[in-house]
Amino acid sequence: MKRPVKSVVVLTGAGISAESGIRTFRAADGLWEEHAIEDVATPEGFARNPQLVYRFYNERRRALQVPQVKPNPAHLALARFEQRWPGDFLLVTQNIDNLHERAGSRRVIHMHGELLKMRCINTNLVFSTREDFDFDTECRCCRNVGNLRPHVVWFGEIPFQMQEIYQALERCDLFVAIGTSGNVYPASGFYQVARQHHAYTAELNLERTGSRFDEHLIGKASAIVPAFLDRVLATALAGC
Ligand code: OAD
Repeated sequence: MKRPVKSVVVLTGAGISAESGIRTFRAADGLWEEHAIEDVATPEGFARNPQLVYRFYNERRRALQVPQVKPNPAHLALARFEQRWPGDFLLVTQNIDNLHERAGSRRVIHMHGELLKMRCINTNLVFSTREDFDFDTECRCCRNVGNLRPHVVWFGEIPFQMQEIYQALERCDLFVAIGTSGNVYPASGFYQVARQHHAYTAELNLERTGSRFDEHLIGKASAIVPAFLDRVLATALAGC
């Protein structure tokens, strides 16, 4: 690494949750759980067929809450790292599941939203939900039906908390991308922003993506994430 590491930003993608039983997006068939992304993850898809989109996210929400789906050693290692790390730490996830929180992570930005939340399109108020909802569900704020949508960022929409993310990227000494294909902007450009500000960049993934990080660690997140974070912590604590 180029300089002592004081500030760390980690970006996670679907690959970190794969071993917890949640399927990634870009399987070989290019479909997300048998659906074309433009049908279930765009504002146009929602306008065209809202019932399909409600049903899709209701199914994902239910699947997230079955007992078999739980944080894996990679989620747990990130939570442990955050607790022990003496400097600044920010975890940015593209995932809409809640496995980081369930593992114990505290400072998490869900840049693509959260499956267990819904939003009123009139007031922009956000509500927690573990239940199904659809066009006929009465909104908790305006008491109308037809106003609730998943609190998920769709293609063509701006991800959440971008200013906070870019500030952290500009100050960090180490940027780590875990389990993300680097296909979706703006997250795909984060490593370049960090690098322009002289951070060391590392990619931890099952396979090498097209992005050029300083270091590439290939393997399953459950194996390589704990080992990598232990190394970062040990190096920092030794004052190197
Ligand atoms: P992808 O499905 O595009 O990529 C998942 C990455 O994880 C791939 O590079 C896999 O090689 C890797 N992977 C799979 N299993 C792994 C494992 N066990 N350990 C380590 N790596 C593993 O998912 P994302 O990059 O997260 O956006 O996709 C980004 C965004 O595109 C999503 O947030 C979503 C999607 O469409 C929206 O919905 C707005």
